[in-house]
Amino acid sequence: MKAGIVGATGYGGLELIRLLSDHPEVESLTLYSTSDAGKSFENLYSHMNTVITQKLEEINPESMQERLDIVFLATPPGVSRELTPKLAGRGLKVIDLSGDLRLTDPQQYTEWYKQEAASEEVLERAVYGLSEWNQKKIKEADIIANPGCYPTASLLGLGPIIQERLAIPETVVIDAKSGVSGAGKNPNPLTHFGHAQENFQIYKVNQHKHIPEIEQQLKTWNDEMSTVTFSTHLVPMTRGIMATIYLKLSEPQTTEQLLQLYENYYSMHPFVRVRQEGQFPCTKHVYASNYCDIGLTIDSRTNRVTIVSVIDNLMKGAASQAVQNMNLQFGIEETAGLQGLPLYP
Ligand SMILES: NC(=O)c1ccc[n+]([C@@H]2O[C@H](COP(=O)([O-])OP(=O)(O)OC[C@H]3O[C@@H](n4cnc5c(N)ncnc54)[C@H](OP(=O)(O)O)[C@@H]3O)[C@@H](O)[C@H]2O)c1
Repeated sequence: MKAGIVGATGYGGLELIRLLSDHPEVESLTLYSTSDAGKSFENLYSHMNTVITQKLEEINPESMQERLDIVFLATPPGVSRELTPKLAGRGLKVIDLSGDLRLTDPQQYTEWYKQEAASEEVLERAVYGLSEWNQKKIKEADIIANPGCYPTASLLGLGPIIQERLAIPETVVIDAKSGVSGAGKNPNPLTHFGHAQENFQIYKVNQHKHIPEIEQQLKTWNDEMSTVTFSTHLVPMTRGIMATIYLKLSEPQTTEQLLQLYENYYSMHPFVRVRQEGQFPCTKHVYASNYCDIGLTIDSRTNRVTIVSVIDNLMKGAASQAVQNMNLQFGIEETAGLQGLPLYP
């Protein structure tokens, strides 16, 4: 397979390079850049010294269609809505890591992203790539809208309980925390060391772009779902997301029953690991891996469930889920190139 990465110099791009350069089915990898085309990759990133020595290339959709089988777009919002229609087709598959193709309603995209949406034709062709839940469509898709990092953690944590209609819809609250790499490679006042270090901050209260993405998928599972409360916090660590989810049950359940439900749902999915009763994951349990780890319990006093779902935002929340989707699209082993164990401590 011949793969390409647009936005190769960004954080998502770097993780894609790490995974794809070691993937058993990827025979060549071409890296594209707008600001550093012509430069050697190892000169930009010394940790790739003597390993990734090729030059970054300019984006040229026509030659990309001829040369590549798959292209990953690890670019800021607004780029892939323009690039995807020029790339997808003639045998070239596209996986977009940005939010451009995730929302099916263009008006909703404009409302939350404050810019023009992709064309309806492209949005109709794009398949939401939540790997564990949408495999049939992913296998047939030529355009994948790779899910956001927070939505991946939140939706994998909520899927079984929402599908089974066990939650009272308006009671769902998602309290999420992320490391600073979630904001990409360019520093800003929020992620600057002097501000972020030894700090814990809520941001974009009730305004995060991932809110409509989460609600859209929850409604797909259960048409009684409407809005959720979703809060995001910045934690002084490099990687990792923890989504702590609270909801009230619509009918009595025990923790054991709910854990069994999750076990049943995810038993065929090697990258989602459900903890035993009384055990909860932390972000280091999934660091640098494609795992999503989930623990849950019911508080019998409040009839409220607490679900804890953790991922690595750059991996399951971005690059490794994209590679998992590529594996599904090309009909190869779902775990190919993704068997690296979590890094601990
Ligand atoms: N960071 C995460 O945890 C995470 C998780 C899930 C999804 N995402 C999404 O994935 C995308 C990439 O995120 P990131 O964290 O990798 O961002 P990043 O570190 O800021 O990198 C983005 C890259 O996009 C390229 N770029 C910028 N403007 C471009 C343009 N007009 N056309 C083509 N390429 C352009 C830049 O490379 P050149 O200047 O070399 O072209 C840059 O290195 C974003 O949409 C983000 O929302 C990120």
